[in-house]
Amino acid sequence: MEKFDLIIIGGGPGGYEAALEASKKHGMKVALVENRELGGTCLNRGCIPTKTLLHSAEMLYELKAQGETIGLRDFGDISCDMAALNQRKNDVVTQLVSGIGSLMKAGKVAVYKGTGTIIDKGLVRVALNEGGTEDLEAENIMIATGSVPAVPPIPGADSSKVITSDELLDLDHPVDELIIIGGGVIGCEFASVFSALGAKVTIIEALPSIIANLDKELGRSLSMIFKKSRGIDVHTSAMVTSIKEEGEKVICCYTEKGNECEIPGDLILMSVGRRANTEGLFSEESSAAVKAMETDRGKIIVNERYETSVPGIYAIGDVIGGIQLAHVATAEGRCAVAFMNGADAPVDVDCVPSCIYTSPEIASVGISADEAKEKGIDVVSKKYPMSANGKTMLSLQERGFIKVIADKETGKVLGAQMMCARATDMISQFAQAVVNGLTLDDMSRVIYPHPTFSEGIGEAVR
Ligand code: FAD
Ligand code: NAI
Repeated sequence: MEKFDLIIIGGGPGGYEAALEASKKHGMKVALVENRELGGTCLNRGCIPTKTLLHSAEMLYELKAQGETIGLRDFGDISCDMAALNQRKNDVVTQLVSGIGSLMKAGKVAVYKGTGTIIDKGLVRVALNEGGTEDLEAENIMIATGSVPAVPPIPGADSSKVITSDELLDLDHPVDELIIIGGGVIGCEFASVFSALGAKVTIIEALPSIIANLDKELGRSLSMIFKKSRGIDVHTSAMVTSIKEEGEKVICCYTEKGNECEIPGDLILMSVGRRANTEGLFSEESSAAVKAMETDRGKIIVNERYETSVPGIYAIGDVIGGIQLAHVATAEGRCAVAFMNGADAPVDVDCVPSCIYTSPEIASVGISADEAKEKGIDVVSKKYPMSANGKTMLSLQERGFIKVIADKETGKVLGAQMMCARATDMISQFAQAVVNGLTLDDMSRVIYPHPTFSEGIGEAVR
């Protein structure tokens, strides 16, 4: 039986980055078990394919909506070729997945293609994709098995016209009418893609606002832009009661402000969150201790060292719940590897930037003014409207804003919320400030180059 220092189950951004860190930084002998493609949800069914589609869709939208205004003429009947779009997306994914394969080879990580089942502390059985099984032994095991789309038990949700992000990413034909249940991150990003490609999009969200877990002004502003500029119908405080098929159409039935409503569409995207994936991870052969591993509604419970209730077995990423983002999974994996080697956390997991790749982009880090108020922290809050920023004006970006929150007494930056072009790149400046305790004065001592979107940051912190 092959022996390792660490066996990682799941090759997503949590698992493969942890494998590299363990091997290269800590000199551990590492096995990585993955039953699908390396890169996990992020590369194959998440971050990368969605952003590739968004890139093409936004370019089409900008050319159609703004081409003439910016002096472009005669580019003909520009339209979307779904087959070519999908091919481009698949090419990007394939290239990145193969890059990870090379990184694993270079990092001397042994990759096993198959499903890993934890038999006992230190023992993993791999049901190899090519057939047969192989037992692996290690001092430490890390569970990084990620998450899968959640589908709530709404009557009719089992219709073939109700799909999740997994299937929508592989759609090979255009959609005329798309209904999206759930106005969270996935719902809003796909609303942007399909409205830009010319579909009539309707969002049905149970809470009073879309992207409700972020600062209220972000949700309000995005809703307005969706309705006014993109023609997207946004229904909030709306509860879906059932789904039915009528001929070629699928009908979504919901209640809004006490009224029973119905809307027809060609497809329904179910984007109401994701659940922890522990399928195949445990079996009848697993020991009593492994079977008794503590979980909470499917999520694996870990302590502050990412260790589960079974010593020597760690879990990180989407499978432990919390903030389900690729960079969080990576940070948690690196921390867990450090902890199993007696080292300090290499990254601050308390400060998580979150980004939404709509147009304009949305990004947020640290706390908002409302959260500061709830926590009883006295803050100064500054806001800069990006309509006054030269780069925003010349590139016809939708208006937006940058808000920054700082401690009133010390001036230390506590958080920022941005809605503007390149917000997802620029948020890292505020993340640097929050993690390293920089003040507004520290941030305003920097020269911001002209003309750039980042000048907005300089204006906001001044
Ligand atoms: P995963 O990436 O889910 O990887 C887990 C892997 O484990 C999978 O490959 C799975 O096949 C494998 N596996 C499971 N069980 C076993 C087993 N028993 N044996 C062997 N292998 C197993 N996050 C961002 O930060 N930015 C974004 O822009 C973004 N966009 C997204 C868009 C969409 C549509 C979706 C669905 C998600 C998006 N996310 C984004 C979230 C991000 O993809 C996840 O947070 C991230 O992939 C989680 O990483 P992970 O390593 O925990 O798990
Ligand atoms: P989400 O949690 O962001 O949003 C789900 C939404 O569905 C919520 O607003 C919720 O109120 C609503 N909802 C739940 N049940 C409902 C019902 N029955 N009817 C109507 N609305 C209902 O989850 P989502 O969008 O599925 O994304 C899952 C995760 O994937 C996110 O939490 C995020 O971490 C990750 N992701 C990140 C991206 C990024 O970083 N840009 C992009 C896409 C996904």
